[in-house]
Amino acid sequence: MFVVKASSAFVKPDLNIKALASYGRLDVVARAAIAALSTRRGPRPDTVFYAVLEGSTKPVTVEFRGWEVPGRALASEAQVGEVLRALARGMSVPGASIVECDFKRLVLRLLSSLGPTRIFYMHEHGVDISQVELGEPAAFILGDHKGVERSVEQWLKDLGVRWLSLGPTPYFTEHCITYVHAVLDRAPVV
Ligand SMILES: C[S@@+](CC[C@H](N)C(=O)[O-])C[C@H]1O[C@@H](n2cnc3c(N)ncnc32)[C@H](O)[C@@H]1O
Repeated sequence: MFVVKASSAFVKPDLNIKALASYGRLDVVARAAIAALSTRRGPRPDTVFYAVLEGSTKPVTVEFRGWEVPGRALASEAQVGEVLRALARGMSVPGASIVECDFKRLVLRLLSSLGPTRIFYMHEHGVDISQVELGEPAAFILGDHKGVERSVEQWLKDLGVRWLSLGPTPYFTEHCITYVHAVLDRAPVV
C-alpha cells in the first residue's frame, strides 16, 4: 500500500477535472494514484492507495482499493478527478472512499495493523532499497511536490518507521511508486 501526504491538495464538489493542479496540486495525487493502481492490464488487485489531502481546514483521506476498482477506471488524471469529484459530492464510487482522517492517525492505524518492520518512509537518505528484504503487505509513505515537513519526518523516526531510499536522485512521487512496484513485482513472496 502507498500513502501520499498531500500537503496542499483539496477536493470540492465542483472540481474542474481538467485543472487538478489548481486544487493544491491535486494532479500530483492523481498521478500517484495512477502509478499505484493502474497497469496496462488493469487495476492492481493487491494495492491500496491512500492520499491524505491536507489543503482544507479538516484533512481528509482518500482510499482506493485496487481489487474493487473497475478495469480502466483510473487510467488518466481526468478519470481520477472524476472519482474525487464524485466522492466530494457524497456519491458512492466502487473501490474508493473519503473519510475525515489526518496523516498521523492513518500512519498509527497502519503501524498497528502491519507492525513497524513493514512500514517505510521514502526518502533519498534512507537505507537503499536493494539492501532491504521487502515482504508484503507493506506500506510506503511518500511526500508530494513539497516533500514531508521536518517535524513529521522526526515523528516518523521516533515511531520506528524505517527510511527507504531509491538512490540520491530526487524523483517525482509517482515515479517512486512505479519504482517500488517494479521491485515488489520481482520480489519472491515472503
Ligand atoms: C518530488 S519528491 C519531494 C521533493 C521535495 N522538494 C523534497 O525536497 O522533499 C516527492 C517524494 O518522493 C519521495 N522520493 C523522491 N525521491 C526519492 C528517492 N530517491 N528515494 C526515496 N524516496 C524518494 C519522497 O517521499 C518525496 O517526499
